[in-house]
Amino acid sequence: MVPSRPSQTAEAVCYMRATEQALPAATRILDDPYAALFLGPALRASLALGGLSRAVVFPGLTTYIVCRHRMIDDALLVALANRAEPIEQVVVLGAGYDARAWRFAEALAGRPVFEVDFPATQARKERLLQGRDLPAVDVRRVPIDFQVDALDAVLAKAGFVPGRPTFFVWEGVSMYLRRAAVIGTLDALHALGGTGSVLAMDFWFLLDDPGFAATFHRAAASALSLVGEPVTFALDPEEAPHFLARHGWEKTDLAGPDELARRYLRDGRRIYPANAIIVAKRA
Ligand SMILES: C[S@@+](CC[C@H](N)C(=O)[O-])C[C@H]1O[C@@H](n2cnc3c(N)ncnc32)[C@H](O)[C@@H]1O
Repeated sequence: MVPSRPSQTAEAVCYMRATEQALPAATRILDDPYAALFLGPALRASLALGGLSRAVVFPGLTTYIVCRHRMIDDALLVALANRAEPIEQVVVLGAGYDARAWRFAEALAGRPVFEVDFPATQARKERLLQGRDLPAVDVRRVPIDFQVDALDAVLAKAGFVPGRPTFFVWEGVSMYLRRAAVIGTLDALHALGGTGSVLAMDFWFLLDDPGFAATFHRAAASALSLVGEPVTFALDPEEAPHFLARHGWEKTDLAGPDELARRYLRDGRRIYPANAIIVAKRA
């Protein structure tokens, strides 16, 4: 990741969400009508051609990216509707072109959404949203470099209230961090969120199969170095609940590729086999 340049992986995953809009409602995994707003000319042209990525380039990865967004949507909506332990604020770490603040404006009902990201990605998002007719929401942009800056300090500056029930979205980020930064973030979130807080995150895992397909997937993770965003952190799904528990987060849901397919796929699409999502509540 080059901090001075808008994230290319953020735009890529946004493109994958945008391709979903062209599918029939019966098989569509998610609705993100804002995703197309954030695409540059090349990806917009590809979208107009019918979603090149879905058809040709990374069909399994596209399916995974859309499923992970949907699973985190579901967890967020459940938490926002929970009257027993009401969520008071939402923090999206490495927000990229996440549009949940607008997609779920009604369910959020005025609760603030803190979008935390590199300033370069935020500036591009801000520019592309200018002049758009969007639902009124309380979105607060929080600039950070996770490898360098203290999350509590940057959030405090934006008006985040520590110790209150918070929903933390940490999607598509852990794999690009060093292990120490992942651990530091889990500890920081535990310290920041009050009882009733929820964390939803995904992670990469390295397939331990020596065969060609698994070797290809391991190589694909390394190949992301070519766009300056190498995969540096991986976690086995079996270990993930224990890893999170050591940092104060108790698993409430976990889905790898098979479970995501069972929940969300209705049209026989293939799904990338080496990523999983975990939802946890603050212990
Ligand atoms: C793959 S994108 C995911 C974006 C978004 N969560 C989504 O799923 O659409 C990764 C995001 O993490 C941000 N990011 C990666 N490393 C970061 C760091 N060290 N500090 C701040 N943001 C970082 C990037 O700018 C980018 O927006």
